[in-house]
Amino acid sequence: MKITEIISVVIFCLMVSVHQSGAEEAQSPSPPTSLPGHLKPLASKATRFPVSVIQDFPSPYEFFRSYVYPSVPVIIKQGARRSPAFQKWTDEYLKSLPESQQLIRVEMRKVEERQLPRMNMPFAEFLDRYQTTDEYLVARVPDFLKRDVLIPPSLHCTNVTANLLETMLWFSSGGTKSHVHTDYVDIINCLFRGQKDFLLVNYTRYRQQIVFDHPEGFYSSVDVERVDLNKFPGLRNLEFHEAKMQAGDCIYLPFKWIHQVNSFGSNVAVNIWWNHQAYVVPSPESCGRPEPGLSLADVSFPYHDQTNGDIQTDLHPELDFFRDPSATLTTFMDEEETDSLTEGQFLEFMDTIIPGLDQDDIWTAEALNVAHQIFQILDVDGDGKITSRDTDKFPVEINKFDPFSINLGQKMMILGDIIDGQISKQKQDILRKSEKDIPEDGNTPSRDHSSKFRGTRDQTSMPNQEL
Ligand SMILES: *[C@@H]1O[C@H](CO)[C@@H](O)[C@H](O)[C@H]1NC(C)=O
Ligand SMILES: *[C@@H]1O[C@H](CO)[C@@H](O)[C@H](O)[C@H]1NC(C)=O
Repeated sequence: MKITEIISVVIFCLMVSVHQSGAEEAQSPSPPTSLPGHLKPLASKATRFPVSVIQDFPSPYEFFRSYVYPSVPVIIKQGARRSPAFQKWTDEYLKSLPESQQLIRVEMRKVEERQLPRMNMPFAEFLDRYQTTDEYLVARVPDFLKRDVLIPPSLHCTNVTANLLETMLWFSSGGTKSHVHTDYVDIINCLFRGQKDFLLVNYTRYRQQIVFDHPEGFYSSVDVERVDLNKFPGLRNLEFHEAKMQAGDCIYLPFKWIHQVNSFGSNVAVNIWWNHQAYVVPSPESCGRPEPGLSLADVSFPYHDQTNGDIQTDLHPELDFFRDPSATLTTFMDEEETDSLTEGQFLEFMDTIIPGLDQDDIWTAEALNVAHQIFQILDVDGDGKITSRDTDKFPVEINKFDPFSINLGQKMMILGDIIDGQISKQKQDILRKSEKDIPEDGNTPSRDHSSKFRGTRDQTSMPNQEL
């Protein structure tokens, strides 16, 4: 399975709801023949806002306060120049490394086509071929190159580095075109060679409108060079945020934002994913002085098992519920030794399946209202409790796009967005409080990273140590 596919974490609920909007739109009356931008490259006639540009990575506080929590994309001009890779990674240098005989995963086409097979070839062989073929290297950054890529200083907090997920290398002779897609993670992408254009769509603003006809991978199959606005009406009247990146720049892509990427000229980029939903809040205990040498080699990326590539971190346990609500509810009832669930008990069940829901203050009136609607969907016979009489009536195959699944999927998506918003607010409050504790010089006491940056989330409780 293709890594980007795996990364576009499948949220089944969104999948169903977008499918439905697609079906609705298919039935809408024929559009006028002269749609601006029809059969033209993506965003040709659309309003485009330039993504704002800052010169260097800000402190973790500034970065999370101004960009991550409010979902604002930003280009960090020269951000990639900090890394040795920017100078070092010539083809000659890379080929000279003995490790370049290791196999690496290569896509056979630059215009993204997720159904095509990939090929494994020695990195050195790719380096000999890529200038004259359509091959595109998209793979986890190999260990032997990790030392050359520095962790952006805005992420130099143990609470952040404990929640890194994956780091990927993108290497081609240019001319790559990705699908319109989304990733359920936060991303910093740094460009070491070439140019890249990112077209971004504000998730909050347009989430109801964009249709992913390939919901299983969270992407749209629309031809980005010739956008059929009749077939993909959700792409009409969109506004885009545009980032034109030069070698040496990095970009921050906010959680869930929809994006499409084109590259120009010999192109090398690395991105870093971290878990947006985890409790990632910079704090004096977790953020020390920036550590100039901290590289990809000093942290761990537990998203994939490094040997077999399996996903290790389940970002969305609620998917199990969504895939088989009957079995999940029945198991819960068995565990609770009951044969029915009242609405109150159902909320307790939700606490167990949705990350973050069990925390204080998440159950706002709005969230409770949506949960109530979900309860009503599941209470098929409407007797005020969920029993086997209800679960027996659930569709056997939830992905058949029947009204039950569509309804449930939409409500789960809305609930997910409300929860994300609540958690984001909480994090901003924690950040505001903890900022008061930052000493005058803006730095907190430094600590020894060598062991703390590896491993699990418990590390923040370790005492500070002066270097
Ligand atoms: C995204 O859209 C929301 C809702 O319209 C808006 O409040 C927010 O400011 C937008 N974000 C950016 C970065 O433009
Ligand atoms: C840091 O992370 C830990 C574990 O994820 C969490 O319990 C703690 O609240 C976080 N601290 C802050 C200030 O975010």
